[in-house]
Amino acid sequence: MPEALSIRTAAESSPAAATAATAAPREIKVTARDVNVSYGEKQALFDVDVDIAARSVMAFIGPSGCGKSTFLRCINRMNDTIPICRVTGRIEVDGRDIYDPEIDVVQLRARVGMVFQKPNPFPKSIYENVAYGPRLHGMATNKAELDAIVEESLRRASLWKEVSDRLEQPGTGLSGGQQQRLCIARAIAVSPEIILMDEPCSALDPIATARIEELIDELTENFTIIIVTHSMQQAARVSQRTAFFHLGRLIEEGPTEQIFSNPKDRRTQDYITGRFG
Ligand SMILES: Nc1ncnc2c1ncn2[C@@H]1O[C@H](COP(=O)(O)OP(=O)(O)OP(=O)(O)O)[C@@H](O)[C@H]1O
Ligand SMILES: [Mg+2]
Repeated sequence: MPEALSIRTAAESSPAAATAATAAPREIKVTARDVNVSYGEKQALFDVDVDIAARSVMAFIGPSGCGKSTFLRCINRMNDTIPICRVTGRIEVDGRDIYDPEIDVVQLRARVGMVFQKPNPFPKSIYENVAYGPRLHGMATNKAELDAIVEESLRRASLWKEVSDRLEQPGTGLSGGQQQRLCIARAIAVSPEIILMDEPCSALDPIATARIEELIDELTENFTIIIVTHSMQQAARVSQRTAFFHLGRLIEEGPTEQIFSNPKDRRTQDYITGRFG
């Protein structure tokens, strides 16, 4: 039996996740309809439709270049920063069109945070990395409140114990795995509702990866998480639902266990069994 078909899924290992995956009805956090994205003349995504449930983890998988990062960036309008990028269709967060001209993009990105493949702490202290967003958004009225947000965020990112005695040191001086947890702390400091993670563990060793995966599991209680990963084992471990992309199309989306054990589409089957990709 191919390994991809025998991996343990989040639903099997966590009863709470299993309940979340099967209990109906699901509260939908993100809705995408007919999303098409082009970079100049080149179309990168075609007619993507998907519903993403609140307080769950959805994994995006698929071969390199299939559009996973492009779609992820649509959800907090990061693609706006790429001049040749054009997005059409509709994406809603809590039923509200995020491409509506009245949407404040800075506010949107506070609600929809992002963690990147390569940890990218600001060239500032550990404290300032986490305090930056809350300060920008006026979330604290005094230093004590800001301190509390910084501590709480670092605790939730399970980094506090390692850095509490050196908050004034540069964030870039931490190990790769610590830097990635710092970036997660920075993302959660502004109390986002959704966290987008683009291959957050690809630069990390197995121990740091396991910590991030545990953290994702804990964060699901409060946040909606969308994670791009090239590791099918990781998708199976952390997500309740998985979407498979291929050549710019979302081919199939469903409960992670079903996608890995009984995919409906031949292309999904070929990918998860390692026949291409
Ligand atoms: N900034 C950009 N300018 C032009 N084309 C881009 C840009 N970003 C992505 N593309 C193109 O869009 C397509 C989808 O790329 P995308 O980065 O979304 O794929 P991906 O699924 O995330 O791949 P990977 O697994 O390698 O990260 C590719 O053909 C890529 O070359
Ligand atoms: Mg990518």
